[in-house]
Amino acid sequence: MEQCDEAVIATNDDASDCKCSAVRLGYWKDEYISYFVRSAERKAPEINRGYFARVKGVEICVEQFLKKTNGNCQIINLGCGFDTLYWRLKDMGHKFQNFSELDFPTVTAKKSYIIKRNKALLSKIHESDGEVRVSHTDLHGPSYHIMGVDLRNTDEVEKKLMQAQIDFSLPTIFLSECVLVYIEPKHSINLIQWLASKFQDAAFVNYEQVNMNDRFSSVMLNNLKSRGCTLAGVDFCLSLDSQKKRFIDAGWTGCKAWDMVQVYQSINASDRHRIERIEMLDEGELLIQLFQHYCLVLAWIGNVFQDIEITVESRMSTLNID
Ligand SMILES: C[S@@+](CC[C@H](N)C(=O)[O-])C[C@H]1O[C@@H](n2cnc3c(N)ncnc32)[C@H](O)[C@@H]1O
Repeated sequence: MEQCDEAVIATNDDASDCKCSAVRLGYWKDEYISYFVRSAERKAPEINRGYFARVKGVEICVEQFLKKTNGNCQIINLGCGFDTLYWRLKDMGHKFQNFSELDFPTVTAKKSYIIKRNKALLSKIHESDGEVRVSHTDLHGPSYHIMGVDLRNTDEVEKKLMQAQIDFSLPTIFLSECVLVYIEPKHSINLIQWLASKFQDAAFVNYEQVNMNDRFSSVMLNNLKSRGCTLAGVDFCLSLDSQKKRFIDAGWTGCKAWDMVQVYQSINASDRHRIERIEMLDEGELLIQLFQHYCLVLAWIGNVFQDIEITVESRMSTLNID
């Protein structure tokens, strides 16, 4: 562990609090987040809406991936924090072969402990036959695994993936929601290069900052710095092009990226109208600025996943619907 790691680990509490705040107000359904968050205070409407777009954007990519692979696939959540996607996908009836989560051991120890102590969480892991093996930091079920590891160490990451019986030849989607931005470029490049060399058919969904070269972004950076947290990977967050270039340079076959204004507009209109009635925005302009400073990046290896799309028109043309 390095000195700044504590502050990076604490960003998970922030993310979980914000997700919990939005869920309690009805932005989306998540029966599980409250097991991980004790008392989340209500966040500003812009934050709630921002998290709604983030969670929906990732979900849109994952659902297309699951459909394309017919469930014959793996999901690997890098820097998972207390994210509850595994349980939400189960409730939606989705199938997959393996769902593995990685984070610092401090985080996975807490998450495993909470899973073990709550039947609603544990029963979804037990569901199929098979035992659940636990250690202080790791938990292994028949198709759910959570493991403590530093993502900067690919040898250790490989060992953990082997323990989770990850099949390097099976289609795999990697998720990283606000994670790579906390990792020094040499380590994040190493990680995504290594993944590209190991997996044959894969997609990578990366959500994080973009357009980090203006006044708004320097305020954001200063706020984080005052909490002891630097964005070590911010150099990749200058533009959508710099985001895409990092994956192509690391050996991924192709890459697309959208800012969150585009992602928000692509969310099903009835869902958008529903959440827009939950709270009045104090400042519409602030939400647009927030959306302009976050993005969703989709990279792929092989050609199977190049048509996963965010924008509504492209999604419909992929499905051949006019
Ligand atoms: C902002 S939180 C996001 C958590 C989760 N992805 C979500 O969106 O709810 C960032 C997470 O990345 C993890 N992380 C950052 N750098 C890491 C590293 N080098 N190794 C393992 N985990 C890391 C942190 O511990 C933290 O849980």
